[in-house]
Amino acid sequence: MKRIVIGISGASGAILGIELLKAFQNLNDWETHLVISDTGEFTITEETSCTPEEVRSLADHVYSSDDLAAAISSGTFKTEGMVIVPCSMKTAAGIASGYSDNLLLRAADVTLKEGRKLILVARESPLSLIHLKNLELLAQCGAVILPPVVSFYTKPQTIQDIIDQIVGRVLNSLGIDSSLLKRWTPDE
Ligand SMILES: Cc1cc2nc3c(=O)[nH]c(=O)nc-3n(C[C@H](O)[C@H](O)[C@H](O)COP(=O)(O)O)c2cc1C
Repeated sequence: MKRIVIGISGASGAILGIELLKAFQNLNDWETHLVISDTGEFTITEETSCTPEEVRSLADHVYSSDDLAAAISSGTFKTEGMVIVPCSMKTAAGIASGYSDNLLLRAADVTLKEGRKLILVARESPLSLIHLKNLELLAQCGAVILPPVVSFYTKPQTIQDIIDQIVGRVLNSLGIDSSLLKRWTPDE
């Protein structure tokens, strides 16, 4: 089984993390390891019709954000990488500064130090220079900065269309083909 760590932080867009977990449930060869920050639990409750408990039930393994002794806290625990979706600017700042005072940050720190794939669905608007500098440093360190932006060229009709395209892009970045992603196919 391939392992993927999924972090849900307190940026707007909790539904994106939920839908990514659902997408992984359809992938038999992948195992999900979930950590939700305290504010992530709050945004799940505020923005969606799910409870944090229901979201946790979508994952194969769940960890408390204050459990710094969890498996995903160690580089010896092999994974294919980590997706933080959505990723707040506070979490981006924590990773960029190496300030790993919760499990979500520590798992991201480990992902980078082990040279594994780290995808940040970084969400804030507008972005300050501090946000941009942190994201620049993270990109220089190898993280994929994948903001949850709308692909207007796909002519989305519903919010679900927009969500599917973003989740499809995350999967694509992990090398996973998915029908969720509408690829650009110019007329010949
Ligand atoms: C409803 C709500 C929406 C938020 N949206 C964002 C956001 O889109 N981007 C962001 O960087 N912070 C956002 N925040 C602020 C973060 O939740 C806050 O900085 C928090 O400390 C992040 O902690 P975490 O990264 O550990 O989850 C939001 C907060 C709330 C309550």
